[in-house]
Order: sequence, then C-alpha cells, then structure tokens
Amino acid sequence: MSSSATPETVLNCIDLWKVFGEGGAKAIAELGPDAPEGAFKERGLIVGARNVNVHVNRGEIFVVMGLSGSGKSTLVRCMTRLHEPTAGQLIVLGQDVTNLSRKELVDIRRNRLSMVFQDFALLPHLTVMGNVAFPLKVQGVDRKTREVKAKEMIDLVGLTGRENYFPDELSGGQQQRVGIARSLTTQPEVWFLDEPFSALDPLIRHDMQLEFLRIQKMLNKSIVFITHDFEEAVRLADRIAIMKNGSVIQQGPPEELVLNPADDYVKEFTKSIPKQKVLRVSAIMGPVDKGALSDVPIKASETVDTVVAQVLMSDGVLAVTDDDNTVVGSIHRRDLVPVIT
Ligand SMILES: Nc1ncnc2c1ncn2[C@@H]1O[C@H](COP(=O)(O)OP(=O)(O)O)[C@@H](O)[C@H]1O
Ligand SMILES: [Mg+2]
Repeated sequence: MSSSATPETVLNCIDLWKVFGEGGAKAIAELGPDAPEGAFKERGLIVGARNVNVHVNRGEIFVVMGLSGSGKSTLVRCMTRLHEPTAGQLIVLGQDVTNLSRKELVDIRRNRLSMVFQDFALLPHLTVMGNVAFPLKVQGVDRKTREVKAKEMIDLVGLTGRENYFPDELSGGQQQRVGIARSLTTQPEVWFLDEPFSALDPLIRHDMQLEFLRIQKMLNKSIVFITHDFEEAVRLADRIAIMKNGSVIQQGPPEELVLNPADDYVKEFTKSIPKQKVLRVSAIMGPVDKGALSDVPIKASETVDTVVAQVLMSDGVLAVTDDDNTVVGSIHRRDLVPVIT
C-alpha cells in the first residue's frame, strides 16, 4: 500500500521491515514481501513489521491502530530507531536515518524526537520537577534554565503546585501528565506516543484525550499516536493507519475508513462508530444557497453529531461556513437522513 509523501512530510517509512531473529534481512530478500508468516517461522523468525509504507505530515496527528500484537510498538520503535529496521528506508526530518552514525542518531533522538510510553516510565526517585527537567539535564542545560522550561511544561499539563511531589504520590492520570510534560521539555519536532492512555480508567482516559487535543492545538506538533482503541483513534486522528499481523492494511482519514473499510478486519472496528461522529458537515452539505439562513451559521469542519440538533430544529436551509466564516455550502434536515438513520 503506498502513501504519498509531500515536502511537508516529517517522517517517511518506505518498504520498512522489522523481522526478529538471526538472518531476517536474508529471509526477506529470499522469501519476498508476500511470503506467509509460516515461512519466516520455519526459519525461527518473527515478523514484527512487514513492508510498511506510511508517512507523517507536519502538524498532523497520525494514529497507528490495531489489535494487540499487530506490530504497532515495533513500528514506532523502528521510527525512533529504538529498534534497528531489518529492511527498508526511514527518512526523519529530511535525513535518511537508516544510514546515520550512532552519534548522529543519539543527537536526533535526544533533540528532535520524543516518546511517551504506556507505563509512564517515570524515574521514581525524582520529583515531578526532576522528571520533567530530566531530558534537559541529559542535554547538559544548566539547572536554572531547565527548571524554568520544566515549570512551563508542568503548568501546560495542569500540574501547577505539584512540582515537588514524587511519582508514587500521584494518580495514574497525573503520572501520565508528567510523562507528557517530560516529553515536551526539549521541544521535539516529532512526538511519539505509544498507547499513552491505555492504562487509565475510561473517564480519565477521555479527559486525557481532550487534554491532549488542547495541548496539540497550542503546540502543533507532528505526532505519531499508537492505540488499540478505534474510538480513540477516530477522536484524535487526522489520518489513521490500521495494522494487522505487522502489515498496514488501510490508511486514510477516519471518515474514509468508516465509509469504505478495506476488509472485514477494518469493518469490525468501524461498525461500532456512529457515522455522525466521524463525518464532517462538509461531506454531506449541499451547494451555496442564497436563501439560506445565516444568523447562526454551521461550520463545515464540525462533525455532524455536533450540529444535528440545530439542523433538525430549523425549518429552512442553513448556511455552512468555513473556519474563516466564508459561506461554502448549505444544509437542510433532509441532508441528515443518510447519516443518522
Ligand atoms: N523483541 C522482540 N523479539 C521478538 N518478537 C517480538 C519482539 N517485540 C515484539 N515481538 C513480536 O512482534 C509482534 C508485534 O508486537 P508489538 O509490536 O509489540 O505489537 P503491538 O504493539 O501492536 O501490541 C508480536 O508477535 C510480538 O510477539
Ligand atoms: Mg504495543
């Protein structure tokens, strides 16, 4: 499956493989990209990621979604070179990182990328301040500067006043806020999050998703977000890649996956998602109508569920505008029929 990279692409995986075990590269070359899992197993090898082609554009939230064991962590670990890819190419911020020296690699990882883990991975003997300032300490930044920067991030994630707490004095949600603050102190250009909210209770998880979107609105990072929860994926993603047995089997904007699932595996995830939560007004609106009511215009970028009540209660045609308040279309009650029935 191809993915078309543009100049705004910050990360590009091209035919990327990770095969665990001795002789992985040789096996890929001999068996080819479509060889069954069993052919690798016979050689004592495990396929973690298979011939993956994905890219991440600047400022977007790219979500990798799939069941447990489908290869999500393997892929994100290859992207940050915590795992050595077995075959393929990886371009990060314009550099082919498959060819970088150890030192160049550490440099790019320390200064331009950062990662948040599911299990928080905080240092238990350091306070919130100590944890959040830690990546700057590793960079050799002086104490005063790093504490000023760390404090900004602690405030950003809503932990003001808890600077001197230790991790075991915090709830799970608060610990993950520390993890998020810590991952942002170095102002990374690409931000990786591997199931950051999966260990949290559903209610806290939902809060954290909103919090994450709020932070992203302010910082506009390029993001790779991993989850096994399709609803979470739909809520957060600009684009989603779905993985199964190490392969990316479909990628696109959430509405594309929901409307046209590539196979039964994808369909199984999408069927629990109400269409109006995914489709945007722009997908169902009609052409600009001079007679449309425009006193409370509807935004084309809103998901349909947020405007249903307003549209249903109106007798006439309502104007639809873009984010700059230019009228771009119109909507009437009947336009909702295919989406909410
Ligand atoms: N270090 C490793 N050595 C061998 N096999 C591994 C290793 N890490 C992951 N795997 C295997 O790779 C596959 C994908 O795992 P993983 O990427 O952790 O999946 P996910 O993150 O989607 O749950 C699984 O079959 C897993 O057992
Ligand atoms: Mg994982």
